[in-house]
Amino acid sequence: MPGTDGVLFSGMNAQTNRTAWHRLGATEPLASAAALARERYRKDNPRSLKIFNDALQALPGANTRTVLHYSPFPVAIARAQGAQIEDADGHDYQDFLGEYTAGLYGHRHPVIINAISQALERGLTLGGPGLKESRLARLMCDRFKALERLRFCNSGTEANVLALSSARAFSGRSDILVVDGSYHGGVLSYAGQSPLNLPFPTHRIRFNDADTAVQKITELDVQLAAIIVEPMIGAGGCIPAQPEFLQALRTASEKTGALLIFDEVMTSRLGASGLHGRLDICPDLVTFGKYLGGGLSFGAFGGRADILDRFDPRLPDAWPHAGTFNNNTLSMSAGFAGLNDVFTAEVSEAFFEYGENFRKRLSASLRALQLPLHLTGMGSMMAIHFCDQSPTAPYPGNSVPPDLYELVHLKMMAAGQFYARRGMINLSLPMTEPMLGRFEEALIATLGECADHIEQSVTD
Ligand SMILES: Cc1ncc(COP(=O)(O)O)c(C=O)c1O
Repeated sequence: MPGTDGVLFSGMNAQTNRTAWHRLGATEPLASAAALARERYRKDNPRSLKIFNDALQALPGANTRTVLHYSPFPVAIARAQGAQIEDADGHDYQDFLGEYTAGLYGHRHPVIINAISQALERGLTLGGPGLKESRLARLMCDRFKALERLRFCNSGTEANVLALSSARAFSGRSDILVVDGSYHGGVLSYAGQSPLNLPFPTHRIRFNDADTAVQKITELDVQLAAIIVEPMIGAGGCIPAQPEFLQALRTASEKTGALLIFDEVMTSRLGASGLHGRLDICPDLVTFGKYLGGGLSFGAFGGRADILDRFDPRLPDAWPHAGTFNNNTLSMSAGFAGLNDVFTAEVSEAFFEYGENFRKRLSASLRALQLPLHLTGMGSMMAIHFCDQSPTAPYPGNSVPPDLYELVHLKMMAAGQFYARRGMINLSLPMTEPMLGRFEEALIATLGECADHIEQSVTD
């Protein structure tokens, strides 16, 4: 469970070399306030700017992970400890990004470091089953209700590609059904139209619209191989699925024989048995990623034994699934140590409550501002939205000017708080009450300073 107050790194004196400019710009029009914030940010982050400019020579837009870009340029992270990070210019931040949920254990957790050190001593690429993969697999099958068998891979994207391909192969059907605005990986992105998406025949439904979903599933009937859904939309703004919506997908898919896949790459942290366990809805397949590798690259997909057993290499017609690093010893060791010794079933339940309490408290503080703001989420994952009504579908802030997101984000960074520009906030295990308090204070002050901009942006 969250421990005592985090200790600031020695030698890191962010607040001393950072101007208190986040208090400026309150009376400017939004565009000028954002321009002023950008100018100050550039001035405060010369080393990060140099790293960005150097990277432009080899990486498109200095970037190799789209989600990590924000304007005018992202700060380069030099080191981290617990729930705090330090950028290349020596500024400290409280890390409320939590590596988009992969950072559940925080930075340099001693149990994880120890597991990695021991694995390093045994050797890295061994060309055979290692000591930890079966233990991690059994632990995950014990923990997650829908898992009878599973297979490891290297990322959440890979897990979803393999789950969908397995569903298509198992059912002998072609089409897939996805939720508009969902994200299942770099080649499975359904927020807008991505030219990189896999060419599966794909149909879209609206999130939390059970009637239309049932109608579509019935209409597609034996053409439909799989329905894939995040039980809480993550990238699209931490919007929980209504249990009735998920239950309707479960019932309708059972009727037509389509397989139901829950993408729990982010949400599996929301309870001892993931979000499907919490909601008591059992999909045919589930996918995992993020924190389950202990902070190292990780993916897994699993579920019903009759589907997964088709991968049994002893079968004459076994489905092939190699993957050089599927069982890489570092991820297997760190993943096992993390789930077995740190994020136990009891801790995961307590951490869910810890997050719920924080979100309720923060929501109340936001309400007191009397601005068009909403905080959505579950447990340790949440997102802040600029809108009038509490959103039930992904990307509710799409009509809000990007300048507003940028202004609030850069001001929060100047106040030493790191979170996702789109509003996502993730807690990690080393966080403490004082840290939560400091984040809340900075957020409320920042939003208060931007009150006019927020009101104008949402009503325009
Ligand atoms: C719900 C969901 N599915 C899949 C993925 C893809 O995982 P990865 O980035 O490990 O490929 C993500 C990544 O953010 C995600 O949020």
